[in-house]
Amino acid sequence: MSFISTTARKKMLTIAGLIWFGYIVAHMLSLLNFHFGATAFNGFYDWFNNSPVYWLVLLTLIVALSFHVFIAVLRQLNNNTALGVSKYRRHYPKAIPRFIAWSGASMLLAFIIFHVVQMQLLEGSDRHQQMLDIFSQPSMLIVYALGLMVLGAHLHHALSNALQTLGVSNKTYHLLVVLIVLLIVVGLISIPVSIVYA
Ligand code: HEM
Repeated sequence: MSFISTTARKKMLTIAGLIWFGYIVAHMLSLLNFHFGATAFNGFYDWFNNSPVYWLVLLTLIVALSFHVFIAVLRQLNNNTALGVSKYRRHYPKAIPRFIAWSGASMLLAFIIFHVVQMQLLEGSDRHQQMLDIFSQPSMLIVYALGLMVLGAHLHHALSNALQTLGVSNKTYHLLVVLIVLLIVVGLISIPVSIVYA
């Protein structure tokens, strides 16, 4: 893969990440239907799960995620190889040690795999009732709280990085990133929270 330039790899990483970002925003918005009751929530998923778009979306997400992880690991390995040849080594912000960043990314990957498998194993079509069942288990609340925390951290890091690449990294844009990440996380977390406090 050394024939692919560092810039091209970064572009591929960003495009695959942006596909997921688009899906997460759409997913959060469709999940907000939960607050309008069982008919609205189940109606959406009955339509979506039976439309040909469903498998296309899932396949695109799996390919994009595999690609995103592959390129990220490759970039890190190359960076390690360049260790000692300081002019080739990319320097990361000291505030986020590599170990922490990789632990967070691994936790997010584990959460996504867990969540997709859990959703695939659901039986029947009453998604509203299934959400109530899932989030009445304390262990699930912990898993989802951790998953959403690492998602928030990863999105914040990734979006800030993308802006920096585009050459826009002033305070206003940083605030915008924080706001977008907060809206996504709060939107998603509103489903389990509304169940716990119902
Ligand atoms: C509290 C937060 C979340 C809730 C309540 C939730 C709920 C759901 C529901 C109801 C489905 C549809 C299952 C179906 O197809 O019938 C689904 C699918 C999916 N979710 Fe989430 N989700 C949450 C967070 C996330 C996050 C953070 C991600 C990714 C980072 C994610 C990724 C996916 C994917 C890829 C699918 C498609 C898998 C499938 O339909 O089988 N979800 N989720």
